[in-house]
Amino acid sequence: MKLKKHDQLSVKIEKLAFGGKGIAYVQNEDKDNFVIFVDNVVPGDEVNIKLNKVKSNFAEGSLVEITKLSPIRIQARCPHFDTCGGCTLQTIPYEEQLKIKESQVRESIEHIGNIKEMDFKPIIGCDSEWFYRNKMEFSFGYEDDGKPLSEKKIAVGLHPKYRRYDVFELKECYLESEDTGNFVKAVQKFMRDLQVAPYHSRTNSGVLRSITVREGKRSGERLVNILTSGEDFEPKNEFINLLTKESDKNGFKAATSIYITKQVIKKGQRTRFEEELIYGEPYLLELMKLENSTELKFEILPQAFFQTNTLQAEILYAKVLELGEIKSTSTVFDLFCGTGTIGLFCAHKAKKIFGVDINQSAIENANSNAKTNDIQNATFVAGDAFKVIAELEEKPDIIIVDPPRSGLNEDLINHILKIKAKRLIYVSCNPTTLARDLKFLCEKYKLQTVQPIDMFPHTYHVETVCELILQNN
Ligand SMILES: C[S@@+](CC[C@H](N)C(=O)[O-])C[C@H]1O[C@@H](n2cnc3c(N)ncnc32)[C@H](O)[C@@H]1O
Repeated sequence: MKLKKHDQLSVKIEKLAFGGKGIAYVQNEDKDNFVIFVDNVVPGDEVNIKLNKVKSNFAEGSLVEITKLSPIRIQARCPHFDTCGGCTLQTIPYEEQLKIKESQVRESIEHIGNIKEMDFKPIIGCDSEWFYRNKMEFSFGYEDDGKPLSEKKIAVGLHPKYRRYDVFELKECYLESEDTGNFVKAVQKFMRDLQVAPYHSRTNSGVLRSITVREGKRSGERLVNILTSGEDFEPKNEFINLLTKESDKNGFKAATSIYITKQVIKKGQRTRFEEELIYGEPYLLELMKLENSTELKFEILPQAFFQTNTLQAEILYAKVLELGEIKSTSTVFDLFCGTGTIGLFCAHKAKKIFGVDINQSAIENANSNAKTNDIQNATFVAGDAFKVIAELEEKPDIIIVDPPRSGLNEDLINHILKIKAKRLIYVSCNPTTLARDLKFLCEKYKLQTVQPIDMFPHTYHVETVCELILQNN
């Protein structure tokens, strides 16, 4: 049989690919294990699907119906599971999610990287599978009730799956805080009562775009930033009252900092963000614990990047420190350093840390984080990782890389192979690009240890730390 678009067939979902799509294997012409990807399924489900795309080596199908539920399926905790695009693995028990993520990392390295020998460690899961995020952004929009725009009510919530321009009213969310539902409800009532209009991209009118809540999981602080269109947000004092004096009464924690940020978009000009601190401290303080139980302080401004799971990031960074075997004589390159957290975690053990990131404001943050923590042996520089280190005379003993999802580029890999640091620690958020890069790096390095770590329960994401050791040649 030769499969073609629009064919309907019954298949069993064998596993999940990285990214969360289900995989079924079928016979197609002379191929026995022809792969079909299916959305919104769980391993073990038996389903009827319709093919949307058929290529030479895989096909994509959409779910028509589930004919037999997987024995591992559970009820999603969140009432918005069917609407919301986040937390897609909620119908799989957390222990099973961890097994799935662990095998995705192992299979990627074995099959794409073609590496079979390594010390593959069991995945480290999160102690708290709920309320682990320290940042959530909620959007403003209108209720999806079929009424004309003039009669619609304001909604505060998240975007429905596949509909980036719509917003559904959020009643509960188990990602950041137990009081998220109360917070969103109070903000929504406030905006409805005062009739502050959400920004509407099609008509380019209205004021409110989104509201972001950042929380110091260790410090207990809370920074709220309301993002508006270029128009003024008038009820500032009333809004401060709502988020401070009236927070208890509404069942949520008071803000320690409140910002209003105008997003100014003008034709032919770069989008500008004008931040106005209307209450409290200018930054959110977050603390991270080092293995020797000292704490690092991070002063996080509204637009700054920070790892979204503070407690699990501590575990991730401690792994980097352990596998890096950093000594007091070590010069360490922290490439793709972001706000410098990995380098700052390592600084007390190293002789010198040199961090590079392409994002100028992340580097400003990294240098001020070093200052706040009185760390004097760490320098952070803005620029492209390859270009910056290609111009350096100094050779590192240890290189740490933590690239974006796309992984390392060829120039950087070649340069790393040329400068031959004794150890290389690769932190990755994408097992497929990690495996591709490891294949090249293993021309001169041996993949010693692989440690998967789950930072984001109920999502398909998985982080991996790899230890590579230079081979004598
Ligand atoms: C996964 S984040 C790493 C964050 C950081 N290590 C941490 O733990 O907070 C990837 C970083 O790579 C940076 N980046 C992307 N392309 C880059 C390039 N060509 N050179 C240097 N940095 C780059 C991004 O700005 C981002 O901060």
